[in-house]
Amino acid sequence: MESKFVINGQKPLSGTIKVKGAKNAALKVFPLALMMDEPIKMINVPDIEDCHRAQEMLVALGHEVKDLGGSVMQIQRKSKVCVNLPADLVNKFRAAVMFVGPLLATCGEVYFPHPGGCVIGATRPIDMFLDGFAKMGAKAEILENSYRLTAKKLRGAKIFFPKVTVTGTESLMTTACLAQGETILENCAMEPEISALADLLNRMGAKISGAGTPTIKITGVDKLGGGEYKIIPDRIEAGTFAILAAASNSGEIIIEDCEPAHLGALWALFDKIGVNYELGKSSIKIKPSAKILAEDVVTHEYPGFATDLQSAYTVLMTQAHGSSLIHETIYDRRLLFTDTLTQMGADIIMADPHRAVVNGPTKLYGRKLVIPDLRAGIALIIAALIAKGKTEISNIYQIERGYEDLAGRLKNIGADIQKI
Ligand code: EPU
Repeated sequence: MESKFVINGQKPLSGTIKVKGAKNAALKVFPLALMMDEPIKMINVPDIEDCHRAQEMLVALGHEVKDLGGSVMQIQRKSKVCVNLPADLVNKFRAAVMFVGPLLATCGEVYFPHPGGCVIGATRPIDMFLDGFAKMGAKAEILENSYRLTAKKLRGAKIFFPKVTVTGTESLMTTACLAQGETILENCAMEPEISALADLLNRMGAKISGAGTPTIKITGVDKLGGGEYKIIPDRIEAGTFAILAAASNSGEIIIEDCEPAHLGALWALFDKIGVNYELGKSSIKIKPSAKILAEDVVTHEYPGFATDLQSAYTVLMTQAHGSSLIHETIYDRRLLFTDTLTQMGADIIMADPHRAVVNGPTKLYGRKLVIPDLRAGIALIIAALIAKGKTEISNIYQIERGYEDLAGRLKNIGADIQKI
């Protein structure tokens, strides 16, 4: 039988909740193992389904992945690397595309199907990856059920991203480390996970400058060495817990092991809407607030307000006084979950796929619901935690893709949530 979460809402929440390593940082580190002979040790790896899939991918490609306990993993090549990315794994998570460049750079050939992942955009294209690899000298063929890329030796290139892309920036930055000569990437994404990845690559012998700015320069090297790497804290998880604390507004919640500096756009909004919070160096304290006010939000690439926090913020706005416009600029299916919120009692009007107006405050009521994707899923869990009555939530694989032991950690702060 499929697992479910059962939540009895409106329990007062207080206490301490710890943030795990960032999913979207960890997923970009596993593929680096393909580029080195020496072992790579990863510290602070979140125990989540997407990371399990990345580990299975490495095993399928000829690597040994050892769980050393305490969120530490060690990866080492064991046999000749296979150049076929298994379709059943690539279909499960979008970050699987990060394995393409390292295989192309080291083996000269790679076969892979179109990557899957959360269904949050009508299409989630990979054109900018393919164009980038082509500029670096690769030949791309579209076969019946897969792509085939080949290149004798990749060479550095000047690449301008027509649209800001996180994984695209990370993929081409990583691949360029083993290309001949200099690569310049322009209009890059600036997310903290990108700077973290560049720091790690540089420690392994790469020559990258400018990561975290729109222009990244990479000078190719012959090989990369292994090493140790601590995954940065998950800023989306930290922001989500902060929004949960504000929406519940029932007690003091301390969020630990995080990097508050990565969430500037959220603090600017909290200042406007009246959330009572204090930031430490690696912790966030959310205290009960007198009254939460409605405020519009527009999602934007970093350092703007993250699309991955939009769904949780939308739930918060159902508890705020006034009307707010939620403008989701990155994905066209990320507001569809508001239908479910409306069924729980929210007053939300969808203007078009990118815009919704939330009128608050409204009471929410528990119901049976199915989680559509990871971030909509966590938002609906926040809704269930503040709703009156019982909510039964299915398709929780989507939550387990990105949040480690969510039920356990929420129980620690007083939530009545069971995984059955
Ligand atoms: N895009 C293209 N062509 C491409 C690549 C992207 O048109 O070749 C478009 C996308 O369709 C989208 C926009 O560019 O409209 C931005 O997409 P981006 O490439 O930045 O997204 P991503 O790298 O696939 C990462 C995170 C997402 C997060 C976005 C935006 C990972 C594994 N995923 O996705 O995280 O929403 O950046 O910040 O890092 C999540 O964790 O729930 C999640 C979806």
